[in-house]
Amino acid sequence: MVCALLSLNISAAEPSLVPQPQSVAWGQGEWVLDAGTVVCHDARLAELAAYLRDRLEPSTGLTLTLQAAEAKAFQRMKLRKRTAIGLFLTEGLPREGYRLSITPQRATIEAADPAGAFYGVQTLLQLLPPEAMDARLHKRMTDGRQWTAPCATVCDAPQRPWRGLMLDVARYFHDLSYLRHYIDCMAHYKLNRLQLHLIDDSGWRLEIKKYPRLTQQGAFAGPEESRLGGYYTQQEMQDLIRYAQLRGVEIVPEVEFPAHILSAVVAYPWLSCTGEQQVLQTRHSISPELLCVGKPASLQFLRDVLDEVCDLFPCRYVNIGGDEAKYTRWEACPDCQALMRRQGLEKASQLQGWLTGQMAGYLAAKGRTAVGWQEIVERGKVDHQVVATVWSGAMGDSLKIKEMGHKVLLSPNAYLYLDFPECATPGEVPAATWRSPIPLEKVYAMPCEDYSPESACIGLQACVWSDLFIHGVGLPEFEPLAENRSEAYIDYLTFPRLLAVSEVAWCKKADRSWPRFQKALERQFRRLDCMDVHYRVPEPRCASEGGLYTLLSPVEGAEVRYTLDGSLPHEHSLLYTAPVSLAEGQTLRAITVASPGHRSLPLTVTPDAKP
Ligand code: ACM
Ligand code: ZN
Repeated sequence: MVCALLSLNISAAEPSLVPQPQSVAWGQGEWVLDAGTVVCHDARLAELAAYLRDRLEPSTGLTLTLQAAEAKAFQRMKLRKRTAIGLFLTEGLPREGYRLSITPQRATIEAADPAGAFYGVQTLLQLLPPEAMDARLHKRMTDGRQWTAPCATVCDAPQRPWRGLMLDVARYFHDLSYLRHYIDCMAHYKLNRLQLHLIDDSGWRLEIKKYPRLTQQGAFAGPEESRLGGYYTQQEMQDLIRYAQLRGVEIVPEVEFPAHILSAVVAYPWLSCTGEQQVLQTRHSISPELLCVGKPASLQFLRDVLDEVCDLFPCRYVNIGGDEAKYTRWEACPDCQALMRRQGLEKASQLQGWLTGQMAGYLAAKGRTAVGWQEIVERGKVDHQVVATVWSGAMGDSLKIKEMGHKVLLSPNAYLYLDFPECATPGEVPAATWRSPIPLEKVYAMPCEDYSPESACIGLQACVWSDLFIHGVGLPEFEPLAENRSEAYIDYLTFPRLLAVSEVAWCKKADRSWPRFQKALERQFRRLDCMDVHYRVPEPRCASEGGLYTLLSPVEGAEVRYTLDGSLPHEHSLLYTAPVSLAEGQTLRAITVASPGHRSLPLTVTPDAKP
């Protein structure tokens, strides 16, 4: 885009922190992490201390010494030539908040709870060089690098309790190592809830011991000899829950019903209204099959599944899906019609409201709160308070839901559906098309009010659906994804937009600043490289003045390469070093080259025309 972005009043030396903390005061000097650094921790933060040691050891080659200690003893401790990290719990700070104080000898993190201490650690990690995040770099041990962080005092707390991401593992089965990678990235940017969309027409992804055919039949599609799909055993999920818990991320399981449940119907045809045998899909479409709400056995099935889910997942919230049901099956089903008459309902759609009430009540009796897509409160009155995820509408829907007495989670598809591409430039990844692209700046501009404990809206959640590559077969060839395409694809769609989601979710509305965020983001890409994230490289920015075009790399340290003859630039095109002028009829096309083979789409600038 041609714009006047080049005169940002932000010090080039200022470290980059995303999300922007509530307050930062930079001090004099720096703190050094070295082989003598000791981590003194509150006994209740032993796991966090071990996490920090394990996070830093592979990248820095340093094995930190851990030592349980009291905060006062830590402050009195003589360090002589050593430096220390202190991790302590204290009174008087907000939930999930922390105070980080870095002096030349001590980096002290105080927090009200372990989540706050974890976020203090993430801020400290962001103040260390990005290579401190690179678990692949054992050779760093010998390269003589100084691991320093600037002296500073940071006071910080999140603005919203729910800072989430939803990943559709039903349509594409992501293996556990990818989920751990995703959780690590979420945690580093202080997101705290990962909703796993475990069930859809094209796959059932969680072992349910009482119904083994759900995963024997419902987790795999295609011919026997080349089956596509997979599932998580309960043991694997338990390990993943624990992994996420240690990183301040709660996994919220989504048990989708009454629609998007063909995978269960394939396994147990009696769950549907017709009872007919179905086959699992390998292409995207929404099946008309619904769970038959009129049969007691179907309701028992749901209760049984929720029992196992609640035994497995310790989270307060359980997601019950609920989106996009079409009610033709219920309208034609004698059992569902009989239930409608018994309940005095006029429309088949109201059966969904009744079903939601039943299951929300069942969960409430177990001390859990039902969350679901907004349809769960739009199909009839639900007596138990639930959380409705607004995905299709906007503020108007939130107000209506608030008036009904329910809570709201914001996932508006116009801002937070990251399965839409960032732009429509030829060469962009094939991605969802049923709405316009969602550029990074639009995500950052997402409207949401500040949170207070009285707010109906508890936060926001970005969604990464996999409609476009059901089982990995729908994803066309796309050169920038290279090998391991499906996972690179999800990284590409998620990053850097996840960083915008993080800041929108974490910060007060008034503290959001697109120019500051853009500047901070420039310095986060190297960090993403170190975290092995296959991010989308942004196009160069361009400003024009007096017929001169100035190009700016949006990625710190990246090159900008350009052409003036209209051809597509590549890694050996002209290297941008100074403003260029365009002769009549000339077109400037420029790309950002983050590293060999990792480059942006072209920015195209034609004088007097819109880029
Ligand atoms: C949805 O996008 N159907 C929740
Ligand atoms: Zn039925």
